[in-house]
Amino acid sequence: MKRALVCGAGGFIGNHLVSRLKREGYWVRGADLKYPEYSATEADDFAIVDLRDPASCRAIIDCRFDEIYQLAADMGGAGYIFTGENDAHVMHNSATINLNVLDVASKRNCKRIFYSSSACIYPEHNQKDPSAPVTSEASAYPANPDSEYGWEKLFSERLYLAYHRNLGMDVRVARYHNIFGPLGTWTGGREKAPAAICRKVAEARDGDTIEIWGDGEQTRSFLFIDECIEGTLRLMRSNFLGPVNIGSEEMLTINQLADMAMIIAGKTLRKRHIPGPMGVRGRNSDNQLIRRVLGWEPSQPLVVGLEQTYQWIDGQVNGKNEVDSIAA
Ligand code: NAD
Ligand code: GDD
Repeated sequence: MKRALVCGAGGFIGNHLVSRLKREGYWVRGADLKYPEYSATEADDFAIVDLRDPASCRAIIDCRFDEIYQLAADMGGAGYIFTGENDAHVMHNSATINLNVLDVASKRNCKRIFYSSSACIYPEHNQKDPSAPVTSEASAYPANPDSEYGWEKLFSERLYLAYHRNLGMDVRVARYHNIFGPLGTWTGGREKAPAAICRKVAEARDGDTIEIWGDGEQTRSFLFIDECIEGTLRLMRSNFLGPVNIGSEEMLTINQLADMAMIIAGKTLRKRHIPGPMGVRGRNSDNQLIRRVLGWEPSQPLVVGLEQTYQWIDGQVNGKNEVDSIAA
């Protein structure tokens, strides 16, 4: 039986990854500061630990892990990472986690380790035209991310690749592009646009007005969680180190995203555009490299995943979900 460690298993993607690995027959240890908020973990063992502490990393990482997935980070959507108020914590917390986890994994001879980087590493100057943003992997340099979150991710990508070159670590690095789905953060300030907009639509009554940050003409693509996990495992099981984009190429404006959520909800709502943290003007995944190296790319239309996500968030907002807030 294969053994996997999932760091950040109390978070959105980590929790889904644990479930997928369990379905595939792995023995899984999860590690996080907290249990998942919206479902019980399926991990065989779940360590509540602070991965900024080297001793905690030594306590949970042993030589028997075939695979480590390092997803733990101090992260959030635009309302958390683009205000500037959390920069010091984001950089310190996430860099410290990566330095510790990778170093202990190396010393315990756990060679195969996955790192979740972000589309936020791409240069701001290539993402000013909302209709034609550039995010090919090679365009990352010369570097110019628009957030300290992005700079930390770039530093950590380089850290993992240096451990590969100098210490023989078998790393895999993905650059995720705005992942969404059920069991993801939908309130509290760290939620990303798909969840925030689903929440606003779910809270509204027909004819109400919802608030959108900016003019709503900024573009993004959004990747459903199941395809994110599929891409992660395909990369981990390939011979390609990365970094490689794991994202959708279905780009749309935030106004169009809101319209899609309203159609799903069957509500007609007005939009009020208000000042808010914006991030880059345009972003889309460039999937040329993933197509070439994995012979695979995400293909599910956004509306399919958004439908499931809206129904789940509507259940959270309006009390329709049966399972809620379960500690492991
Ligand atoms: P998340 O915030 O839901 O999960 C991250 C988890 O890390 C949280 O449960 C948090 O408690 C844990 N954590 C933070 N500090 C810790 C510490 N000191 N010790 C132990 N655990 C700690 O985020 P997510 O959406 O699941 O993202 C997972 C990873 O993917 C992160 O590294 C994130 O930066 C990256 N990523 C996510 C997206 C996205 O759209 N969700 C996009 C790009 C990159
Ligand atoms: N969060 C949020 N909430 N965003 C909104 C809202 C709202 O109510 N209204 C409009 N937006 C706009 C933001 O201003 C931003 O321009 C756009 O929607 C997307 O915001 P987010 O989804 O919060 O973040 P992002 O796409 O800029 O960055 C996210 O994706 C990265 C990877 O692609 C973040 O989650 C990063 O942490 C992640 O690395």
